[in-house]
Amino acid sequence: MARRALRKIDPSLELGRWLRTFDDLPAPWQPEAIFGRQARLEVEVGTGKGLFLVAAAANAPDRDFLGMEVSNKYARYAAARLAKRGLTNACVMHGDALRVFRERLPDACLAAIHVYFPDPWWKARHKKRRVLNAGFLADVERTLSPDGRLHFWTDVQEYFRSTLDLIKRVTRLEGPLEVAEHPAQHDLDYRTHFERRTRLSGEPVYRAEFARTRPMGYAFVTKETSMPPISSLVARDIMRSNLVTATPGQSLADLRHLLIGSHVSGAPVVDRGKLVGIVSRSDLVRVEELVEALDAEVSEEVWLENQADGFKHPAPQEFGGFHRRLSELKVKDAMREQVMTCSPDTPVAEVAAEMVRHHVHRIVVVEGDHPLGIVSTLDIAALVAQEQNGPR
Ligand SMILES: C[S@@+](CC[C@H](N)C(=O)[O-])C[C@H]1O[C@@H](n2cnc3c(N)ncnc32)[C@H](O)[C@@H]1O
Repeated sequence: MARRALRKIDPSLELGRWLRTFDDLPAPWQPEAIFGRQARLEVEVGTGKGLFLVAAAANAPDRDFLGMEVSNKYARYAAARLAKRGLTNACVMHGDALRVFRERLPDACLAAIHVYFPDPWWKARHKKRRVLNAGFLADVERTLSPDGRLHFWTDVQEYFRSTLDLIKRVTRLEGPLEVAEHPAQHDLDYRTHFERRTRLSGEPVYRAEFARTRPMGYAFVTKETSMPPISSLVARDIMRSNLVTATPGQSLADLRHLLIGSHVSGAPVVDRGKLVGIVSRSDLVRVEELVEALDAEVSEEVWLENQADGFKHPAPQEFGGFHRRLSELKVKDAMREQVMTCSPDTPVAEVAAEMVRHHVHRIVVVEGDHPLGIVSTLDIAALVAQEQNGPR
C-alpha cells in the first residue's frame, strides 16, 4: 500500500509545548519539568505520525506520554496533532530514542515502553541498526518500573521471532504475554498508522507484551516474617532461584548487557540444562583487557590456531590482532569451568566456610548437574546484618 504524503501542518499552531529536542529534556531526569506534574509515564519509541500517542493521551488523562521520533518531519506532524487536540499529557521528543534511554532515563522510571513497527532494516549488514538490539533491551529492563510493560508489535515475522529470542536471552522480562487482535470499529481504530496499513492490506501483525518481574531481594531480608537463626538455615533457604544464566555460545556483548541489565555480577553458564561453568564481570574485564593489550601484528594463521585452541592458553606475543575479534568472542572464551557447587541441603555456615576457604564470591546450588540457584557472599552478609539489626 502506498504511503500517503503528510498533510500540511497548520502554521498558526504553537508547537513549543509539544515538540522537544534531546537538549530540552531535564537532566537529571525530572518528568515534572516536562508535564508539570508527577504521573505514571509511558514512552513510545518511533512515534511516526502519532496515532498511538494522540489516542493514548486522550484515553488516559491521568498518565503522561513521551513520544520519541528521529525524523523531524514526523516528530513535527505528531506534535501538531497533540497541539490541535490540546493534549497536555503528551509531547514528542525529536531525536534518537536510544540516546534518551542511555543518557537520560534513570532506573525504574517508566510504567510502559511502546515499540510499534520499528524499521526492519532487512539487509543482514544493516540489522545492527535495529532499535530492538541487546543494548537497548538492557535499558528497557533497567528503566521499567516493577510490573512495567514492554509492548512490541511488528509486521515482520523474522524481526518478531529474533527479538523474542533476544529478549529471552538477554533479559529477565516475563513473556511473551498474549495480545489479542480487536476488530476495528472505525477507520482510525488501530494502534498505529502502520498497524492500519498492515491490516488493511490483509497482512498479519505480530504482537507481544513483556512484564518486568519484581526486583530480586535477599530471601529473608525482604520477608517480613521473623527469621530463624542462621545456624538452622540451609542453602535452599537463602539461594536466589530466579537465576540469570548464560550459554557458552552467547556473545560477550550479549553477556555484558545481560549482567548489567540484570544487576548481577556473575552468572552460571548452562548448556542444555547442565552447569558447565561460571562467568563474572571480572572475567569479561580480564578478556577485554587481554584483547586490548595484545594488538601487535600476528598472522591470520596463528590467530586461527589459537582460536581452535579455545583461547585457553593465550601466549601474549602470538595474540596480536586478537582485538579485531573481540566482537566474535563468546562466553566460552571467558568463563571458568571450575565452579564451586553445593547441594540445596548444605548448611549456610558450611557454604560460608567453603567460600572463605576457596576465596570465591558465589556458589551454585545444584541438584545433579542442574543448577537450582546461587548463593553469593552478599547474600550471607545480608543474613548476618539482618540477624544483628532485624529486617530493613
Ligand atoms: C516504520 S515507522 C513506524 C511508526 C509508528 N510506530 C507506526 O507504527 O505507525 C518507524 C519509525 O521509527 C522512527 N525511528 C527509527 N529509529 C528511531 C530512533 N532511534 N529513535 C526514534 N525514532 C526512531 C522512524 O523515523 C519511523 O518514524
